[in-house]
Amino acid sequence: MNLYEKLVNGEEKLSLVGLGYVGMPIAVAFAKKVKVIGFDLNKQKIDLYKAGVDPTNEVGGEVIRNTKVEFTADASRLKEAKFHIVAVPTPVNDDHTPDLSPVEGASRLLGQNLTKGSIVVFESTVYPGVTEDICVPILEKESGLKCGVDFKIGYSPERINPGDKVHRLETITKIVSGMDEETLDTVAKVYELVVEAGVYRAESIKVAEAAKVIENSQRDINIAFMNELSIIFHKMGIDTKAVLEAAGTKWNFLKFFPGLVGGHCIGVDPYYLTYKAEELGYHSQIILSGRRINDDMGRYVAESLVKNLIKTDVPVKGAKVAILGFTFKENCPDTRNTKVIDIYKELGEYGIRPIVVDPAADADEAKRLYGIDFHDIKEIRDMDAVVIAVAHSEFMELSTKDISGFFNPVHEVKVLMDIKGLLNKKDYGEDYLYWRL
Ligand SMILES: NC(=O)c1ccc[n+]([C@@H]2O[C@H](COP(=O)([O-])OP(=O)(O)OC[C@H]3O[C@@H](n4cnc5c(N)ncnc54)[C@H](O)[C@@H]3O)[C@@H](O)[C@H]2O)c1
Repeated sequence: MNLYEKLVNGEEKLSLVGLGYVGMPIAVAFAKKVKVIGFDLNKQKIDLYKAGVDPTNEVGGEVIRNTKVEFTADASRLKEAKFHIVAVPTPVNDDHTPDLSPVEGASRLLGQNLTKGSIVVFESTVYPGVTEDICVPILEKESGLKCGVDFKIGYSPERINPGDKVHRLETITKIVSGMDEETLDTVAKVYELVVEAGVYRAESIKVAEAAKVIENSQRDINIAFMNELSIIFHKMGIDTKAVLEAAGTKWNFLKFFPGLVGGHCIGVDPYYLTYKAEELGYHSQIILSGRRINDDMGRYVAESLVKNLIKTDVPVKGAKVAILGFTFKENCPDTRNTKVIDIYKELGEYGIRPIVVDPAADADEAKRLYGIDFHDIKEIRDMDAVVIAVAHSEFMELSTKDISGFFNPVHEVKVLMDIKGLLNKKDYGEDYLYWRL
């Protein structure tokens, strides 16, 4: 009997190493089909899961309370499993070089608990070569086992989109890869248990690693192009959204929009690719240009806000500014790598201390990472300027009356920064200085 069959009939277990935005939905999905050990280094997180709490909102507390996943912070329990999936973070350091310490750390723990006949599949986003050139030597050293003989490896990048209830693990085609045909076949069959949309068998592990990292680089570059257009069109006094709507009537015009690029995927993954390219003697032209533009957009928004205050004769220093939305994307509690903090900090340079409202964000995380306390939306009164930074559904429901109520009534012209163009511009006529990217 092969490993796939043993998993299905309950003789062997599957493990998840890293139970965050990516790992938890996978663990929960697999637990409907096979026995699953869910391991995370973070004991507090495991305690929350055991108490039925889902801090990421990806699957929800009720699902966690009802799942059969065996949650543990004890790495030695990984010995009980034969099919391992690693979904630990892959951030960048301050100098934008890859921080592989979580992947290396997970490989060490896994290696120390690896048994003969296992398959290890990495899901973390990496540059081509990390699985085979960095993780495998660690697994071999820690386990004393030989890759290809005693255990096998694969790679299957994750494509889920936090907060998106349509594009889910089950409904997105999953790229799978393996070190040989037999491994590929097992990895593919195992994922087919949970991915209704089916799997795509990549020809090698490096191809699968590269595919993931370019998906996000492509988005980053396209958004950077839109951001550059927005800067140009602002200088020309043309509304970018209107231009994109017009251009979008052509069949092959790509639908991208300007905006802040934060989070730990689109704004990070391109650096993995350019780092490896640099190591090989190629200095990226396009990818890094895109990164520079996108990384600078928070400053651009803040500067534009200050110019708008000046235009409306509002003293800049000490101006009362509200920022609506702090997370890196809409309807998601994650504040890590949010670019809204760039707006906040840049405004601070002008002597403005904005008040921030975000009903969806993880308030403890925001306090810990940025020292920011959120305010209730009811406290948004008498403002000199309002920035709508994130398209949370709560903000989409705001009426023109609600928005008008945020401002100090003394202002004849109100500075409204609708970064993503959520509002209907026509509703904000002469008594507004309405601005969007
Ligand atoms: N979040 C996304 O939308 C998304 C989408 C596609 C791909 N990815 C990629 O998936 C990977 C995981 O991302 P995430 O958003 O789930 O991260 P996350 O931070 O939400 O979760 C990762 C978890 O791994 C745990 N962890 C860290 N080191 C560990 C170790 N040595 N052993 C066990 N657990 C460890 C952390 O405690 C955390 O709970 C990253 O490579 C990311 O780029 C993320």
